[in-house]
Amino acid sequence: MKPSPLFCCVLASLQSLAGAVSIAEINGNKYLSPYSGQMVTNVTGLLVAKGPNGVWIRSASPDDDEATSEAIYVFSSSVGANLTVGDVLSLDGKVSEYRSNANYMYLTEITSPKNVKVLSSGNLVTPLVIGKDTLSPPTVQYSSLDNGDIYNVPNGVVNVSAVNPVLDPTKYGLDFWESLSGELVTVKKPVAIKTPNQYGDTWVIGDWVATGRNKHGGVTMSDKDSNPEAIIIGSPLDGTKNSADSKMGDQFEDITGIVQHAFGFYSILPLTAIKTATPASAAVPPTSLLSQGNCKAITVGSYNVENLNPKSTHLPQIAAHIVDYMKTPDLLFVQEVQDNSGETDDGVVSANVTLTALVGAIESLSGVTYAFADVDPVNNADGGAPGGNIRTAYLYRPEVVRLYKPNQGGATDATEVVPVSNGSKAVPALSFNPGRIDPANPAWERSRKPLAAAWKAKGARRPFYTVNVHWASKSGGGTSLHGDRRPPLNGAVEARSAQANVTGSFIAQILELDPAANVIAAGDFNEFAFVQPMRTFSAISSMVDLDEAAGIPVEERYTYAYDMNAQALDHMYVSPALAHKKSTRFEHIHINSWAAYDDQVSDHDPGVALFDVCGC
Ligand SMILES: *[C@@H]1O[C@H](CO)[C@@H](O)[C@H](O)[C@H]1NC(C)=O
Ligand SMILES: *[C@@H]1O[C@H](CO)[C@@H](O)[C@H](O)[C@H]1NC(C)=O
Ligand SMILES: *[C@@H]1O[C@H](CO)[C@@H](O)[C@H](O)[C@H]1NC(C)=O
Ligand SMILES: *[C@@H]1O[C@H](CO)[C@@H](O)[C@H](O)[C@H]1NC(C)=O
Ligand SMILES: *[C@@H]1O[C@H](CO)[C@@H](O)[C@H](O)[C@H]1NC(C)=O
Ligand SMILES: *[C@@H]1O[C@H](CO)[C@@H](O)[C@H](O)[C@H]1NC(C)=O
Repeated sequence: MKPSPLFCCVLASLQSLAGAVSIAEINGNKYLSPYSGQMVTNVTGLLVAKGPNGVWIRSASPDDDEATSEAIYVFSSSVGANLTVGDVLSLDGKVSEYRSNANYMYLTEITSPKNVKVLSSGNLVTPLVIGKDTLSPPTVQYSSLDNGDIYNVPNGVVNVSAVNPVLDPTKYGLDFWESLSGELVTVKKPVAIKTPNQYGDTWVIGDWVATGRNKHGGVTMSDKDSNPEAIIIGSPLDGTKNSADSKMGDQFEDITGIVQHAFGFYSILPLTAIKTATPASAAVPPTSLLSQGNCKAITVGSYNVENLNPKSTHLPQIAAHIVDYMKTPDLLFVQEVQDNSGETDDGVVSANVTLTALVGAIESLSGVTYAFADVDPVNNADGGAPGGNIRTAYLYRPEVVRLYKPNQGGATDATEVVPVSNGSKAVPALSFNPGRIDPANPAWERSRKPLAAAWKAKGARRPFYTVNVHWASKSGGGTSLHGDRRPPLNGAVEARSAQANVTGSFIAQILELDPAANVIAAGDFNEFAFVQPMRTFSAISSMVDLDEAAGIPVEERYTYAYDMNAQALDHMYVSPALAHKKSTRFEHIHINSWAAYDDQVSDHDPGVALFDVCGC
């Protein structure tokens, strides 16, 4: 309906007319403007930048409150036509809060600008240097509404937009970036902390204090610290494009642009494309851990090989990683092995062609011949790409490790921990080897069932046990760390908690029968060591994070780069007997998280460990 002029005027008179206010008053000291929905007049400011759909103006009469931004976006595709950076102008308009998705934060802006008057031109425009002309970004907490831990469960208990807390830019990262919304800022000495996304949006840390800095220049998340000091550089305002080839550790020239919130993140829209000053090296040393070919020192690797099927173009490169960087470990846990027909949804569930192709590629590069073990899932019952039937599998070098009394289970067979008497003692055995853990449990609906196995290494007196996991993925159902919902929704955290319980209880049964058993649980847990599902798993099973046991520095514990954080989704957990052995070692190989997008072979990094599994 086209409103009549009369209707318009009635509405306008009902709408409160706030009159002349400063930009700081419009922004207020909270997330949402106290003037939202109201008409404001004679808003005066210096034009600091122009974009395709509006201009940003900075107050001519700033206050001294760090919480109130002195700048604001004037949204209008035509307002900039006759304006130039450096103009001081006054205008009337309506204060609006905008977001394109209910899980995002709102952006405060002035819409429908009218009575735009240029008061003077050619004024100096000076960006605020972050950390020098502004506070430094807080380094640990995102929001007062996260109650001290962004991974608190339950998630999503409040929304920023409902609580509208007073900003504390000295303490909370999101409050800091909100307090600069609309400002023209400079990031000095920016360093890329991740490969860009498909649009060239690039996460950086500038010349300010950052926690969790790893040796390669990224920032690694840790317990209760998910690095709010990082900021993403979005699309340049002049229509140029950021390079899609940058990677973790690359150093850029200084970046100047506008702070805003869109698509679920605070970001800086640079005036022009990012320029690389010094690219980082992506060269990764191979593992230094070498097998002795017997139980005294076996090497055990784990690698999520990202939807691998016989036709995968990345199959030869995965094989090369296993040979050149992992040094053909004696036992290899792999995840995301697809069936023989890949993502063709044709009822095929066997992966023997896929695994034979991988084994063949490794053999042709190294002369090492692996055997493999897996259990086919029920068609399309384990999640992942439809038709792909991803599963976990083991590759092993039979001259060093062999399945102990093999008795392979089927898709719906639950392997059980059963006591078998050995002299006067009862020792644990698996009813199916390899076998899937409790496949009928609802915890595994549309998810991979863990694959348990018992092995004997050359020279060992007793078997050791393994569990290869690929728990429910975070993708789908999660919300941005910069989003409205607090704490942010950690996608499928309930599913992983249930999976942690089932997996942990199974391992607890082994250790109940033999507290000195050597047990290794490894794979893609899709969760961080300090978040509830992993804590549950460790508490129920008594298994120890190998990063902890092997003394890997907290900053170097990562296997994946996502948004601003280097993070560990993949882990090895070991039983107390292995955790306490002096000979136990672990190395992460950052072959993918350091590489430029086109050079990444998988989205996860592999890891290699060294264990003495002779048994006492
Ligand atoms: C608009 O604001 C400026 C200062 O920001 C003031 O000098 C001027 O008198 C105001 N004009 C009107 C019409 O209120
Ligand atoms: C820009 O100036 C031109 C020429 O004076 C005028 O026709 C046009 O309406 C102006 N545009 C805006 C958005 O003020
Ligand atoms: C937060 O906002 C979302 C989206 O509008 C809504 O679905 C959800 O119920 C809200 N949460 C709370 C706790 O109010
Ligand atoms: C895969 O398994 C099928 C059925 O057991 C068998 O016929 C085929 O030869 C196997 N292929 C390979 C490459 O091992
Ligand atoms: C059974 O006990 C004997 C003697 O202590 C030992 O050598 C052997 O490894 C044990 N077997 C298992 C499965 O633990
Ligand atoms: C863990 O599993 C046990 C036994 O299956 C069950 O009683 C308990 O409720 C589960 N706990 C959680 C947190 O899922």
